[in-house]
Amino acid sequence: MSALNFFRRGALALGIVMIASAASAQQTAKDGAFEPYSGQPGKDVVWVPTPEVTVNKMLDMAKVTPQDFVVDLGSGDGRTVIAAAKRGARAMGIEYNPDMVKLAQGKVKEAGVGDRATIVQGDIFESDFSKATVITLFLLPDLNVKLRPTILKMRPGTRVVSNSFRMGEWEPEETVSVDDCQSWCTALLWIVPAQVNGAWKTAGGNLTFKQTFQMVSGTLGSQPITDGKLTGEQITFKVGNATYTGRVSGNSITGTITGGPGGSWTATR
Ligand SMILES: C[S@@+](CC[C@H](N)C(=O)[O-])C[C@H]1O[C@@H](n2cnc3c(N)ncnc32)[C@H](O)[C@@H]1O
Repeated sequence: MSALNFFRRGALALGIVMIASAASAQQTAKDGAFEPYSGQPGKDVVWVPTPEVTVNKMLDMAKVTPQDFVVDLGSGDGRTVIAAAKRGARAMGIEYNPDMVKLAQGKVKEAGVGDRATIVQGDIFESDFSKATVITLFLLPDLNVKLRPTILKMRPGTRVVSNSFRMGEWEPEETVSVDDCQSWCTALLWIVPAQVNGAWKTAGGNLTFKQTFQMVSGTLGSQPITDGKLTGEQITFKVGNATYTGRVSGNSITGTITGGPGGSWTATR
């Protein structure tokens, strides 16, 4: 099945689940405790839980370590936040539905990760998650695209992992089909690129980058740049038979050249 059909099927499935479940809404157990159900309406998207195998694959792909601050946007029952905290990371879930927030807070406590995991009530479109080093998502394609400008302003190198849904024309670095998984079994990874678009100066002449997400083209002097790519703050591109690699730090780039003139290079703007 093509990726596009898969996403259409996914979006349709969420919609069908939402309609079916809304018709038979049953939000409380006999003892009056809140019980979520798959397809339960949410502010911008229904609640459907990510299978644990997909949660784990997403965190693997993002290479989550105890140094990370993981934020799950629309955190549902808190499973991704808890899984990240179990890996030693600080983790925060932002969830609109107050009943889900309470439920997830209870699960955080039960899991014994309350020292580094928090669940906050809020709207993901009005919350500040700029300090995250890893963002996890299981929303919908149009919501991912709506979040995209905010995500692209985050620190270069921030990893973004999504269950099943893409980021519009921002191509993922990696797309993985999760083994031993029944539904919602595709995990996708993006890495926020540094912003290099525009004119730079180097000892070898004027450097102009034309950036489209992580892809870079342009010119060095009168020569075209080929195979240009940003992975976070790391940039690589070719000019003729020379390969330039470098690290972007604000308004300067420093790096090395292999082939061609060789040696080191710097660019400023
Ligand atoms: C498909 S579920 C994913 C839950 C969880 N991230 C997971 O992967 O298991 C989406 C969640 O987003 C929540 N949600 C929907 N719109 C939201 C918004 N604008 N702000 C915060 N949460 C929202 C829903 O209530 C639901 O719990």
